[in-house]
Amino acid sequence: MEYITYEHNAEAAGVISRFYETPPLAYVHSYGCQQNVNDGERIKGVLVDIGYGLCDKPEDADLILFNTCAVREHAEQRVFGNVGALKGLKEKKPGLMIGLCGCMANQKHVVEKLRQSYPYVDLVFGVDGIDTLPELIVRKLEKHKRILLEPAQRPVIVENLPIRRESEFRAWLPIMYGCDNFCTYCIVPYVRGREKSRRPADILAEFRGLVEAGYKEITLLGQNVNSYGKGLEESIDFADLLNLLCSVPGDYHIRFMTSHPKDASRKLIDTIAAQPHLCKHLHLPVQCGSDRLLAKMNRHYTVEHYLDLIEYARARVPGITFSSDIIVGFPGETEEDFQGTLDLVRKVGYMQLFTFIYSKREGTPAATYPDDTPRQEKTDRMARLLAVQDEIAMGLVKAQVGQTVRVLVEGYGRLEGTLSGRLDNNLTVEFAAEDSLMGQYAMVHLTGARATVLLGEWVQ
Ligand code: 5AD
Ligand code: SF4
Repeated sequence: MEYITYEHNAEAAGVISRFYETPPLAYVHSYGCQQNVNDGERIKGVLVDIGYGLCDKPEDADLILFNTCAVREHAEQRVFGNVGALKGLKEKKPGLMIGLCGCMANQKHVVEKLRQSYPYVDLVFGVDGIDTLPELIVRKLEKHKRILLEPAQRPVIVENLPIRRESEFRAWLPIMYGCDNFCTYCIVPYVRGREKSRRPADILAEFRGLVEAGYKEITLLGQNVNSYGKGLEESIDFADLLNLLCSVPGDYHIRFMTSHPKDASRKLIDTIAAQPHLCKHLHLPVQCGSDRLLAKMNRHYTVEHYLDLIEYARARVPGITFSSDIIVGFPGETEEDFQGTLDLVRKVGYMQLFTFIYSKREGTPAATYPDDTPRQEKTDRMARLLAVQDEIAMGLVKAQVGQTVRVLVEGYGRLEGTLSGRLDNNLTVEFAAEDSLMGQYAMVHLTGARATVLLGEWVQ
């Protein structure tokens, strides 16, 4: 593993400024998870660094880049649909450069499909190639040939990439890349490669910069943050990293995702209990509530182990809330397996669930497992799960009413004159207040709830 530092590419900036009469515009659209959104922010940073302006509409752009997600088939189909829709634009504007990057671009069959069926796509590069974008653009401008890079994993971490963050008060901060877990349904280890951790000093420097710039919510990102530190020179684990970051003085809070239950340690939970900067909320994807399926998913924990962890967290961190990801309809899921999931969901009482119907990903082990549950049965199970979860969430939300809590104001409410803020536990509350509170902390008294959105009054 090598750590390299991004450097401004003056040559590329020169070529681009000579090529275009006025600064060219780029439209960058990211799909999928926060990691990918953060990659998109860095792609924008690199483009601005070499002389591009950014625009919000593909029609205005000289460069259109789709930063894609491969985790479910539906996401891929959307991307192909959106790329297909650009054909007309390219005909009208032959100088338009169209590119595709991110997780889809790290799959051989996708690159092949783009090569054969989407001749107007000029540029394809994988998740590790953001720093190489200036060279690729220059090569394309000078040689006029399509550049479709074959998927390859680069054992490097590039530090110091410029960034154009979407928010001025909420920031994503990757602490590691890739995944070593190979859950049998998941494409991520194949497209994002092996796990690699950023150095603590680099993370700390970026974190300090964010706090100094006034960022209030900093979310640490990794496919499995609990295995942070593997392969680093210094001996450090995720809880140690959290303690290190929390030593930075300032008014901020930290979230992190995603925790894998097999690696989430009691030490981590003790750290959440001890550090006021850490949100009292844990996103702990369980995927399903059947030991038989958990084994087939290669998750390396049992329902009992998971519930023990939840119980420990509840005892150590009063008021802690949980959220989870659940896959419905994994190959071979029986009604009994599904009942196990419902049972577990009821036992834990999640504040939020992110639910997915299993999507077959070519190249993963589960793609070869027999899957004879009819689609209708799967959508039916999903509806039943959502009904159970809705009831739980509404109960939990109502139980919050009466408290006065600190929230980060992050948007507008549905009614005019109201703002929306997020609680520690990820719930949102809407309340009447002045716009100037946007991006600031506010104290809000919780007075009621509309479904799973809280209503409140600003306490001045
Ligand atoms: N099908 C459905 N859901 C999936 N996830 C990952 N791979 C698949 C798949 N093939 C879900 C998991 C994971 C979340 C990010 O996406 O629940 O935690
Ligand atoms: Fe996929 Fe499992 Fe890695 Fe998460 S932990 S990215 S679900 S392989």
